[in-house]
Amino acid sequence: MSRKPFLAGNWKMFKTGEEAVSFIGQFKSVTSSLTDRDVALAVPATALEAAAKAASGSPLIIGAQNLHWEKEGAYTGEISAQMIKATGATMVIIGHSERRQYFGDTDDKVAKKLGAALWTGLVPVVCVGENLSDRESGRTMDVLSSQVKGSLAGVNPAEAHKVVLAYEPVWAIGTGKSATEGMAQEVHVFLRRQLKEILGPQVADQIRIIYGGSVKPENAANILAQSEIDGLLVGGASLLVEPFTKIVSSPC
Ligand code: 13P
Repeated sequence: MSRKPFLAGNWKMFKTGEEAVSFIGQFKSVTSSLTDRDVALAVPATALEAAAKAASGSPLIIGAQNLHWEKEGAYTGEISAQMIKATGATMVIIGHSERRQYFGDTDDKVAKKLGAALWTGLVPVVCVGENLSDRESGRTMDVLSSQVKGSLAGVNPAEAHKVVLAYEPVWAIGTGKSATEGMAQEVHVFLRRQLKEILGPQVADQIRIIYGGSVKPENAANILAQSEIDGLLVGGASLLVEPFTKIVSSPC
C-alpha cells in the first residue's frame, strides 16, 4: 500500500502572524515542486488566518494545534473546528503530548476533538507517545495501545482513513534525543497492527503514521527510509526556513 508522505511542522507557541507570513513567503515555493508529498505547518491560533492567506495558491497545508469539540459556547479561550476552518486552515493537531501533559487532554477529550475535526472536514493529526518512565519500565506498547484505542474510540469508520497518526515519544521531544530508526519502525509496525484491530485492514492501511521527536535535517532521511514511517512531525527544526526545507525535501 503506498501512502502519500505527510511532512509537518509544529510551531508550538512561536511566531506572530507577521513572522508566519514572512516564513511562508520564503518557504511556500519549495512545496510547489514537492507534489509527491503533503507538506504542512501547524501555527499558533493568532497566526492562522494570515498564514492561510500567505499559503494560498501553493500546496502548503496550514493547520491549528488544538481545538474544542463544541461548535461554539461559553468556553473562554477555546476555538472550535468551525472557527479554524473559517480562517482557511485545513488541518489540526490533536492530543499533542504537551496538551496531554500541561492542559489535561485525555484520550476521551482527544476522541471528542477528533470527531469535531472530521465532521468539519479538517485533517486531524492525532498524537500518541510514551514517556520515559513508560519506556524504561517496558510499558511502551501497553501505553500506546491504550492511547490509540481511547483516542480513536467512536471514530466514524467511513472517515477514519483521513486520520494521520503521529508517534511522538515524549522523551524525544525537544531533547535532541531522537528515537533510532529501528525503535520508531518497531512502534509504527505495532501501531499499524493496532489500527487493523480497531478499524480493519483496509482502513488501517490507508492511515499515515508519522514520527516526531528531535527530527533534524541530519536524521530525517534515515527515519523516512523506514517502510512503516509515512512522514514526520517536526518541532524546533521547523522554525527556520533552511532546516525545514531540507527536511521536507528529504527522499521519501
Ligand atoms: P522537536 O522536533 O522540537 O523535538 O518537537 C517535536 C514535536 O513535539 C512536534 O510536535
